[in-house]
Amino acid sequence: MKKTRHCCSLLLISLMIVLSAASACLGGCGTPAQPAVREVKIAVLTYDDYDTFVNSVTRHMTRWCRQKEKEDDVRITIDIVGAKKSQLTQNDQARNYIQDNYDVLCVNLVDRTDASGIIDKAVASGTPVIFFNREPVSEDLYRWDQLYYVGAIPSQSGELQARIITDALSDPDKFDGIDVNDNGTIQYVMLEGEAGHQDSLVRTSVCTNSIVNAGFSLEKLGDEYANWDRDQARAKMKELIDRYPFQIEMVIANNDDMALGALDALTECDYPLDPFVVGINGTPEALEAVRTMKMDGSVYNDAKSQGETIMEMAYALGQGLPVPDTVELTFDKYVFTPYSIITYDNVQEYLNNEND
Ligand code: BGC
Repeated sequence: MKKTRHCCSLLLISLMIVLSAASACLGGCGTPAQPAVREVKIAVLTYDDYDTFVNSVTRHMTRWCRQKEKEDDVRITIDIVGAKKSQLTQNDQARNYIQDNYDVLCVNLVDRTDASGIIDKAVASGTPVIFFNREPVSEDLYRWDQLYYVGAIPSQSGELQARIITDALSDPDKFDGIDVNDNGTIQYVMLEGEAGHQDSLVRTSVCTNSIVNAGFSLEKLGDEYANWDRDQARAKMKELIDRYPFQIEMVIANNDDMALGALDALTECDYPLDPFVVGINGTPEALEAVRTMKMDGSVYNDAKSQGETIMEMAYALGQGLPVPDTVELTFDKYVFTPYSIITYDNVQEYLNNEND
């Protein structure tokens, strides 16, 4: 009796070995079977809910995920939350996502000089972080090899914004149209984004320095922070208009929303001059304003490519894989998308791309 039971168990064990070998072979003889990925959980933390450009980056992230889910047999959870401009709130949000076992964090810092709260938690839990749009200081980024940054080079946007202006000023007819008081100097106002933001500091100085270095004379009438926001820019511009009722020949804005806010104010105040107005980003509303010649130009900040690149990286890092070869890393850490010039002459191409 005992012997028969022993024989049966031996038979059963041999059968199991044969079956498991067969199933391993079905999974692809010679290649190790890959565990099927069921779900990748990506948390996206933004500095605020109301930023036009950042929202356009996150829209492209969501689109990328939905498309990837169709292509691969995978479920991607993407959760997007704003921090209402509080770094402490964002630190708490990061902690909660880590506790909820999110695989990777994509962080648009509130205060780009204060990344340590998030980095400490990420390192301790082994959760990779891709910072975007608001660039942490390099000392923070180099604290761990699973920290990255995706954005664009601020000086390039300042240079290209200056190029739009110097191209116009180099044409004598256009110069005369801008220099309405005919004194050979362009009186301008500057609308800046946010104190401490890399894109405000660098865009402002590089743009004006490049115009002066190109041989043109500038006179700054006013310089105001409007926090990237159309309504704040409109209010600040109204104050500038009150101070300089006939002098403003040019408005240089660190982004399109503020350029559009300046235009709102000029229209509402029935400003007697038609200043040259330039922004940065190439938002749909700004493209339309360039097409209808209300704005004189903008610099394209590639939200689509930034959003898609962040997701390609997040999808890989969240599964414990390296950054894909298709993503071009600078110094093993940074991805910078190129800026480009938008004027009336090429705006249609950008409008067509928007509708793709
Ligand atoms: C964009 C702004 C945006 C800001 C937010 C900049 O790169 O040009 O429009 O408000 O980032 O951080």
